Amino acid sequence: MEATLLQHPALESVLSDLAAEMAVRTDRGAVATYIPQLGKVDPAKFGIAVALEDGRVISAGDADEPFSIQSVSKVFTLTLALGKVGDALWKRVGREPSGNPFNSIVQLEQERGIPRNPFINAGAIVVSDVLLAGHEPREAIGEILRFIQFLADDDTIYIDRDVAASERATGFRNFALANYMRSFGNLDHAAELALGVYFHHCAIAMSCRQLALVGRFLAFDGRNPVAGHSVVSPGRARRINALMLTCGHYDGSGDFAFRVGIPGKSGVGGGILGIVPGVGSLSVWSPGLNANGNSHLGSIALEKLARTMGWSIFSP
Ligand code: DON
Repeated sequence: MEATLLQHPALESVLSDLAAEMAVRTDRGAVATYIPQLGKVDPAKFGIAVALEDGRVISAGDADEPFSIQSVSKVFTLTLALGKVGDALWKRVGREPSGNPFNSIVQLEQERGIPRNPFINAGAIVVSDVLLAGHEPREAIGEILRFIQFLADDDTIYIDRDVAASERATGFRNFALANYMRSFGNLDHAAELALGVYFHHCAIAMSCRQLALVGRFLAFDGRNPVAGHSVVSPGRARRINALMLTCGHYDGSGDFAFRVGIPGKSGVGGGILGIVPGVGSLSVWSPGLNANGNSHLGSIALEKLARTMGWSIFSP
């Protein structure tokens, strides 16, 4: 770690310069309004954090303010589901980029109810269905929240019940996806139950600082580098990172890999988790989205950060 720090002594100032630059930009994208509760968030917010191997978290801007992590949570439900059923998951969910919006229905018909990957909504609903097996929805939701709190060693991470209720009230498309998959036999529980789990994990709220800590195991071979314990095997961490790189930004995944060059997972709350293997985990939050539903300024900030620090996985 010492070597990394010596190579990157200016991380604090890089982050604060980025936050200052982003604070004055007027091109902020559009806050998601299809989940009404998310539409209330102030588009001027911007936070960024980096969690390093030695336990430090360097941050700037609104990095301590909780936001709705939405689809970023799909990384952690995937991790749990792989722990529960292992490679059997891949019979029910694919591993290919979709090239379609995150809530698209068309591909599901052609591919007979098997979602392209675990990060599009349909794939994450199947993952919720897997986590529901043998449980009441509230138990599965509790298990997901406790896992996430454990990863960050922080039990202040919470579920925003207003966001979950807002999404349930307007989640017609997700109900359509779930029922459609059930018609193909790829959902074991009623749509209402699987979506109960799904809506609540999408409504988990935390700050950039907390999110960087939750995702940190993916940067260190599946290990908590401070406590030393293993969360997943190195091979599993590598594969989750591969899926984040290829599928983590939906039909914007190629562009994110091209511009930023690291595994990343976005959410419509405007958060992004990024992984720099061997160095640290990054998180950014800016609520305004681009046309693909990914944080507009968040992507720009990560592009600048990765370039400044030389953090693309495609360069030595
Ligand atoms: O199901 C939904 O539409 C949201 N709960 C999650 C979508 C999302 O975060 C897509 N990410 N960019």
